[in-house]
Amino acid sequence: MSDKKTSNQMWGGRFASGPAAIMEAINASISFDRKLYAQDIRGSIAHSEMLAQTGIISTADQEKIAHGLNTILKEIEAGTFEFSTRLEDIHMNIEARLADLIGPAAGRLHTARSRNDQVAVDLRLWVKDECFRVAEALKGLIKALLERAEEHAATVMPGFTHMQAAQPVTFGHHCMAYVEMFSRDLSRVRDAIERMDESPLGAAALAGTSFPIDRHGTAKALGFREPMRNSLDSVSDRDFALEFLGMAAICATHLSRLAEEIIIWSTPQFGFVRLSDSFSTGSSIMPQKKNPDAAELVRGKTGRVTGHLVGLLTVMKGMPLTYGKDMQEDKESVFDAAETLDLMLAAMTGMVSDMTVNAAAMKKAAGSGHATATDLADWLVRTLGLPFREAHHVTGRAVALAEEKKVGLEKLSLEDLQSINPGITADIFSVLAVQNSVKSRTSFGGTAPSEVRKQIRAWKKRIAKA
Ligand code: ARG
Repeated sequence: MSDKKTSNQMWGGRFASGPAAIMEAINASISFDRKLYAQDIRGSIAHSEMLAQTGIISTADQEKIAHGLNTILKEIEAGTFEFSTRLEDIHMNIEARLADLIGPAAGRLHTARSRNDQVAVDLRLWVKDECFRVAEALKGLIKALLERAEEHAATVMPGFTHMQAAQPVTFGHHCMAYVEMFSRDLSRVRDAIERMDESPLGAAALAGTSFPIDRHGTAKALGFREPMRNSLDSVSDRDFALEFLGMAAICATHLSRLAEEIIIWSTPQFGFVRLSDSFSTGSSIMPQKKNPDAAELVRGKTGRVTGHLVGLLTVMKGMPLTYGKDMQEDKESVFDAAETLDLMLAAMTGMVSDMTVNAAAMKKAAGSGHATATDLADWLVRTLGLPFREAHHVTGRAVALAEEKKVGLEKLSLEDLQSINPGITADIFSVLAVQNSVKSRTSFGGTAPSEVRKQIRAWKKRIAKA
């Protein structure tokens, strides 16, 4: 298109020749901000309609502008639009093409507007749309977890602290912990949408405009709740991008923790779950191997998403009001984080739905390592009235005896146990079994299957409405 011209069409008046190649390379953003084409066209159509409604431009010019912009939209979508690096960014690429298509009327579109408010509105629209996509994906993942939780509300497994078996829990309870985590992400993304739902359009370069524009009208036309109240803030704010990245980094961290567990659980040493073939790969040299690549990549990609948050925070920390070209660096972080998070959510949802749970291996592990020692101590407190500290001590001796005899705590005989505390009765064996241990933890939020099922029911209702 206009690559033939030597100086830039939009601001090239005072330059004798085109920008040096290096300047062009560092300055241009078209290679990545072309992603904003639909938002840019939407914003421009809304702006032009407002300009016509307020009498700033004629209806005839507005119609030409809208028609031209719709043609450009089709060209871009059909892949026939020629993007030019010399025209820097998506805004000027579209405006230059509009001039090719409709002539001088194109020049009226930028009345009472600047690329500063234009880019701010484009990126906000894009991030807002992405937030809705993330919310849907999160709901999908939460539903997949709820299904597995329901299926395994009573499947016992070891619960860990310090990565050491601590007390038996259920796999359903474990899944529900992630439901809580991803639900917080869902609430964070909804909060972010609420706050970013304000339009910067009409702030112009930074100070507003002397034209009688209608910012409430364009805000509404673009689906925003209201216009931003301060023109300086309108063009300089990137909190919406930071909040998106913050939410994405926290969500990615949750995904990474679950991925890490899946990786551990799918080792032959644990054998708690088996990933389906679609989410694992074989080794080219070791035929026995099945590697949890998708989970590893979810874990690995988390670094990238968090990096984008730190990257943009670092760009923004040095920005005096209002706009500076540094802020052009916001887009690649946001786009890559969004693409990465979408993929991570999809992969995790797939893994959660597809993985095979080995309940027998979980149960076996839950019973090892004297996992019901706390139940024994609690029984001594409850039934014999021992102070907890003393009960802890008695239980410690029972564990030592079991170690000495190389058996599990529940395999000690009544005589053995009575040699430590004569008050112990056969009733003790009911709490030493893992299933009973789990069943007894009925405190609110506890691991008892009855409690877990209550939480599943409540979340199912909430998610259906979310
Ligand atoms: N490509 C620019 C960006 O992404 C658009 C805004 C340019 N504004 C300016 N005053 N040079 O930030």
